Amino acid sequence: MSKKNPLLEVFKQTDYQVIGHSNRDVHVLKNVLDDYGGHQESDIYGSGKIIEDFQEKMASYLGKEAAVFYPSGTMAQQIALRMWCDKKGIQKVAYHPLAHIEIHEENVLRELHHIKSVLLANENRLITLEDVVSMEEDVACLLLELPQREIGGQLPAYKTLEEISIYCRGKGIKLHLDGARLYEILPYYQKSAAEICSLFDTVYVSLYKGIGGIAGAILAGDKTFMQESKVWKRRLGGDLISLYPYIISANYYFDKRVHKMEQYYEDSKELAVLFNECHTISTVPLEPVSNMFHVHINEEKENIVRILIEIYKETGIGLTGNLKDIHEGCYFEVSIGDNYASIPKGELKKVFKLLNQRILEIAVG
Ligand SMILES: Cc1ncc(COP(=O)(O)O)c(C=O)c1O
Repeated sequence: MSKKNPLLEVFKQTDYQVIGHSNRDVHVLKNVLDDYGGHQESDIYGSGKIIEDFQEKMASYLGKEAAVFYPSGTMAQQIALRMWCDKKGIQKVAYHPLAHIEIHEENVLRELHHIKSVLLANENRLITLEDVVSMEEDVACLLLELPQREIGGQLPAYKTLEEISIYCRGKGIKLHLDGARLYEILPYYQKSAAEICSLFDTVYVSLYKGIGGIAGAILAGDKTFMQESKVWKRRLGGDLISLYPYIISANYYFDKRVHKMEQYYEDSKELAVLFNECHTISTVPLEPVSNMFHVHINEEKENIVRILIEIYKETGIGLTGNLKDIHEGCYFEVSIGDNYASIPKGELKKVFKLLNQRILEIAVG
């Protein structure tokens, strides 16, 4: 049974929420269905116009020869890594210690694919070129997660990416992009998705994070690789007879939101300033490099939950529903979408004034 989270309960009742696009309710699908004719033919086991058109559209957006739709990024990425290991005959891949695949996927590489993970860098910083060059183990593939979500969505300099890519190509190490939030980093790099993807051999991008679809993922790469990946999709049970509710929602929200990433990025920088002006609060990174960042509060979680609940009730504006304990206080993740623009700015300033005051009150006892 799920544990009650009182902060989340009050957050859900607020009139305005600073994060996300909208409630994750059935409207997300209803809005899409209203836009489609009912006679549109469904996809069947990965074939049909509805899935093939979308895959082609995404391959072209990502600048890759081919793309395949998967029900989840978890499935898409384990397939890509497994295939690179089999091709090279080395069952080892390298990535960051806080990569999604390392901490949120129940040891999938080890348990299902007998692949060993080589962890680079450490939990507080990004992978550098030096980490890759000084790697002692021979790996089939290096996975880079951009942005590195668990450290606030930090990004390496573009030059570092280029250098890592050149180095890996020279050494025959395949480079895979966990680009769950790829669209969201384009404004910072001032690059197209295709430019960034050209540095990588295979790329995964999410269809429900930045663009706000229901679920789903795209894996893209060269034609032969992607064709072979469909065998693994079948083996792992990802070849659902029809995936069209996910595909049409992904297509709809891609068109609706992919051009809004610059706005989300600007909004995220503006919001981070408001957090950083509060006593004992700091954002990671200090200046966001995408639509996401982490908010660290050097104060006990219980106290902050109490303060946030009061403020949500007083102002009708919610900042987060999920506060996590860490050794020095607590933190939460912010991810900006459509919601932010609808909040009256004066009211938002009031929220931060109250937040600062109440934290100061605790600090002086
Ligand atoms: C960086 C990153 N990679 C991969 C995934 C997995 O995506 P999915 O939920 O589609 O399996 C996530 C999901 O949160 C993620 O944040």
